[in-house]
Amino acid sequence: MLVIAGAVTLSIAEQNKGAKDIELYGGKRGKVPFPHHSHQEKLGNCDVCHTVFEQKTGIIEELKAQGKLEKKYVMNKLCTKCHKEKQKAGEKSGPTTCSKCHIKK
Ligand code: HEC
Ligand code: HEC
Ligand code: HEC
Repeated sequence: MLVIAGAVTLSIAEQNKGAKDIELYGGKRGKVPFPHHSHQEKLGNCDVCHTVFEQKTGIIEELKAQGKLEKKYVMNKLCTKCHKEKQKAGEKSGPTTCSKCHIKK
């Protein structure tokens, strides 16, 4: 039993957290920089995002291309939705306007 408990602890500590910062495709509006680790720390829950898409690089565009995820779904139903809710609740939040998320190069 002790051995099993130790193994479980180890696997959580070694969980792959992915890149610290990610740049997401944002169509004509321009790329979207996304601070991944800071969201992990603030939200304390991977499932908020990773029930919508897997923990895999490029998965959002892959699912959109396969017609399994609506374009702008992540933007509207995850990113902006949460930021607006936090703002309303008077909590620290992220951007809610186009040009604050999308950057033109
Ligand atoms: C607020 C949303 C959000 C949360 C919360 C989140 N992630 Fe992610 N994660 C993303 C996005 C966005 C991507 C990139 C998807 C893509 O490239 O299409 C990603 C990608 C990944 C990847 C693939 C490697 C990479 O860097 O692209 C791993 C691994 C990962 N996440 C692990 C985690 C773990 C572990 C947690 C919880 C501790 C977590 N994520 C929490 C949004 C989130
Ligand atoms: C909180 C950050 C955020 C805000 C605010 C935001 N976007 Fe986005 N946008 C994203 C992300 C992330 C994606 C990529 C994922 C997706 O398609 O849902 C995206 C994708 C897009 C796409 C590409 C969709 C595709 O697949 O072709 C367009 C176009 C776009 N946004 C326009 C806008 C416009 C216009 C506004 C302002 C009304 C806006 N965005 C506000 C984060 C944001
Ligand atoms: C469930 C809630 C939630 C979701 C989903 C979420 N965010 Fe955030 N985001 C936050 C909070 C809370 C903050 C404020 C963090 C702080 O300043 O303490 C934030 C901050 C940000 C910031 C500003 C970071 C900084 O350092 O100033 C950006 C950019 C951002 N989010 C982009 C995104 C994008 C893009 C997505 C979608 C892929 C997303 N967020 C999804 C809650 C969320």
